[in-house]
Amino acid sequence: MRVPFWPRSLAARTGLVLLLGLAAVQGAGLVVYSLDRIGLERIAQLRGVTTRVMFLYRSLARATPERRDALLAPWRKGPLRASLSRTKPAPNMAFLPLQMRQILRAGLFAVPLPPRLHPQGAELRGSFARHVVFIGLELPDGTWLAVRAHLPPIRPWHSPDFLLSLLLMTALAGGLSWWAVRRLVAPVATLAEAAERLGRDVNADPLSETGPTEVALAAAAFNTMASRIRRFVEDRTFMLTAIGHDLRTPITRLKLRAEFMEDDEQRRKMLADLDELEAMVAATLAFGRDVTTSEPLVPIDLAALLRTIVDEASDARPELAEKILYEGPQRLALRARPIALKRALANLVANAIKYGGGARVGLAPAERQTVRITIEDEGPGIPPADLDRVFQPFQRGEASRNRETGGTGLGLPIARNILRAHGGDVALANRPTGGVRALVSLPL
Ligand SMILES: Nc1ncnc2c1ncn2[C@@H]1O[C@H](COP(=O)(O)OP(=O)(O)O)[C@@H](O)[C@H]1O
Ligand SMILES: [Mg+2]
Repeated sequence: MRVPFWPRSLAARTGLVLLLGLAAVQGAGLVVYSLDRIGLERIAQLRGVTTRVMFLYRSLARATPERRDALLAPWRKGPLRASLSRTKPAPNMAFLPLQMRQILRAGLFAVPLPPRLHPQGAELRGSFARHVVFIGLELPDGTWLAVRAHLPPIRPWHSPDFLLSLLLMTALAGGLSWWAVRRLVAPVATLAEAAERLGRDVNADPLSETGPTEVALAAAAFNTMASRIRRFVEDRTFMLTAIGHDLRTPITRLKLRAEFMEDDEQRRKMLADLDELEAMVAATLAFGRDVTTSEPLVPIDLAALLRTIVDEASDARPELAEKILYEGPQRLALRARPIALKRALANLVANAIKYGGGARVGLAPAERQTVRITIEDEGPGIPPADLDRVFQPFQRGEASRNRETGGTGLGLPIARNILRAHGGDVALANRPTGGVRALVSLPL
């Protein structure tokens, strides 16, 4: 299932999860902080209220009933309003939480009073949601003092310091997690790059086995794998050349023996077969030598290389010169092993000329980090069943076998081997209009 807004890269995903976690933690912290702050400020507000109420109560308790109205005059308006009533007031309000009642009570009775002036009864109610508290106190003569106090709402995050520190903290934590995520996923990219490099060049430099344990372990495992692949390739090539080498002596001996054959016709055929065998061994040895000499990857101009191949082929077959052409950009930079790559592409061009009577070489600009080279001819084409088989060593088409074209059937395998060692590939296809198209892909 595809989650909307779920990013594709590991760094972005980890970053997003961290950021969400950070936001949750910040949110929770904010709530805890605000609740705490609100509680503290409430207590301070209530203390202020009780002190003022007790101040009023004391003056009322000492005053004669006639003077009380005058004393109450300043308390008719403002956030703290007081009035007197004969009966116990019953405001439409809930009782305060126990903790708040205790705080209020402690405040009320902290004011020193002679025992005869102590309040006879107290009624404490309020609603913090509506920002009011109600304090009713019974005077010694049975009259009730009713005070309704409006508490200004508490907004703990309304201070500029608070906002600034919140922003700073968020920015700092966000920046740190971004940095950590980048560091965390960097080795994945390095590993991918190394695998890519190994695909182009088995002799690529090993990865550095430093850094955190897991990264160092992964790098070490990768290096072991690369060296095993390298040894495997080397062993195979070594075996190939050793066999080729050892075949040369018996071939020479057979040739000597053939010289002594009576039948002229048989001797001629035998020697021709032995010559062919010798050519195949020589090609095998040359191939082995090519693979083992590790030519370094260097920046080259592929367009110039193709033009050179085309020019050299035209010079060799002047009668076909106008059918051997290059179409493509003037320059295309790329990292490759120039001698090997030239051999691979020249083999394909040579086949097109040999079997198709001409070669049209095309080069397309890089697309998704891959360049494509096409080599087309207008010859008879290749039977569809053979399109893949001709890439096997010593596989030659029936026509070419009979035509004495002088090849050994190693041209295509060598070309494919070289191109794959570059991280590219080559495939053959018959064109709808006749002839063969060789399609070469090479990574930039
Ligand atoms: N452009 C082409 N048109 C027709 N046949 C081809 C073409 N390219 C290669 N082939 C066939 O593939 C075979 C193998 O080619 P290659 O490996 O180069 O060996 P060689 O050229 O030495 O015979 C050839 O013998 C030929 O039959
Ligand atoms: Mg060939």
